[in-house]
Order: sequence, then C-alpha cells, then structure tokens
Amino acid sequence: MKYLIANWKAELNSSQITEWLTTFTTLVNNDGALLNAIHSEAIKLVICPPYPYLHHVKDAIKSLPQAAMGAQSVSPKAAGKYTGEVTAEMLKHFVQYVIIGHSERRNYNGETEEMIAEELKRSYEQYLHPLLCIRGAEDTLHEHVKLIAYEPVAAIGSGQNADLASVLEMKKQLTLPTEAAFIYGGSVDAANAKMYLNSGEIDGFLVGSASTKAETFYELAKQLL
Ligand code: PGA
Repeated sequence: MKYLIANWKAELNSSQITEWLTTFTTLVNNDGALLNAIHSEAIKLVICPPYPYLHHVKDAIKSLPQAAMGAQSVSPKAAGKYTGEVTAEMLKHFVQYVIIGHSERRNYNGETEEMIAEELKRSYEQYLHPLLCIRGAEDTLHEHVKLIAYEPVAAIGSGQNADLASVLEMKKQLTLPTEAAFIYGGSVDAANAKMYLNSGEIDGFLVGSASTKAETFYELAKQLL
C-alpha cells in the first residue's frame, strides 16, 4: 500500500473545493486503473480539508470507494471549556486519519512536543490514525506511531523537493517503529514522485501545493500506479 495524502492547508475556499471535487472524481471515475488502485487500497488516498469542509468532502468522495478523510490537526484537549478547539471525539465522525505535528503548526501555532504527545493520545482514544510529521531527527518520534511523514522545512511549499539521498539518509538515521510507514512530504509532484517510489523505501507522500489543483493531484496519483 502506498499513501497519497492531500493536505489542502488553508488554501481553498468553498467554491474551489466544490470544483476540485467535481473535477477529481470525474477524472478518477474515468480512469479504471486508478479507480481500482484506490478501491483495492493499493493507493491509500486520504483527503485532509479544513474543518468546515469535512462533511461536504466526505460526502462527495463517496464515489471513490475506500478513499479516506483526514483532519489537518486535532486538539490536545478532551471535551471541555476550550473555546475554538476541535476534539478527536468530534473528528471521529468525519475522518479516519489526522495530521499531527506539521511544521506549520509547530511554527505558527506554537505546538510543542508535549502538545503533540497529547494530540496523539487523544487520537488513539478515538481510534483515529495519526500521521506524525517530523522536520528531521531533532523532532521526537513518539511511541506507537505507525505513520511518519518526513518533511524537511526547506522543501515545503518551495518547489525544492529534497533529493532522494537525503531522504534515505534521514530514514536510516531515525529509529522507526517496526512496521511504520515512512512517508515523504515537501514539493512532491507528478514530475518527481517516481524518483522516490523507485527507491522502494518510501511508502507514500504528504502533498500540499500539488494537491490543491485536481488535475495536478490526479497526475501525481497516476505515478503511484
Ligand atoms: P508542499 O506541502 O507539497 O506544498 O511542499 C507539503 C506539506 O506541507 O505537507
């Protein structure tokens, strides 16, 4: 199984999302090989929209059997008087996956390793699958995590994807839990995806920019076939 995870961040508005969904589902539904791969979970497709769109997107991707939903973050808190927080218990009705520890949340929202540990705990309590993002060996590889995304900060959103050798070197340096999937993120697109996949060492991609346009995401998805 190869993961293909779309992280839309805070980029698309409501009408852009509606258009994305129509275009992407039409392209995939007309592509038997890709549809089969998603259906059989040879490609594990996960779409992570902003919270307000979860319901809409979940409904629209029903035409892609086995495609999954993910959240871009989760509160470290359980239910309580925490204005603005979105808990794992709320999210479990919409998503199976949750991105945790993305460098943008660490940088702009002051997320610490302690908060990340709580977010992981809350996710497990609700049977969500966390995808833990790390920027490098300096970030904690929390216990029990089965999905790890290595995202070097310089490669994120810059168009400068990390070279394969440095990604493989990082994989070697990390003591990954057994059976953990090692995912790469940082300017992945249809032109560079095969380089990583051909190494046989990368279990999929976390994709920002190339996931925000249905056509470029579809072209990327085809590289995983
Ligand atoms: P990018 O984003 O594909 O735009 O580099 C990846 C990410 O931040 O998850």
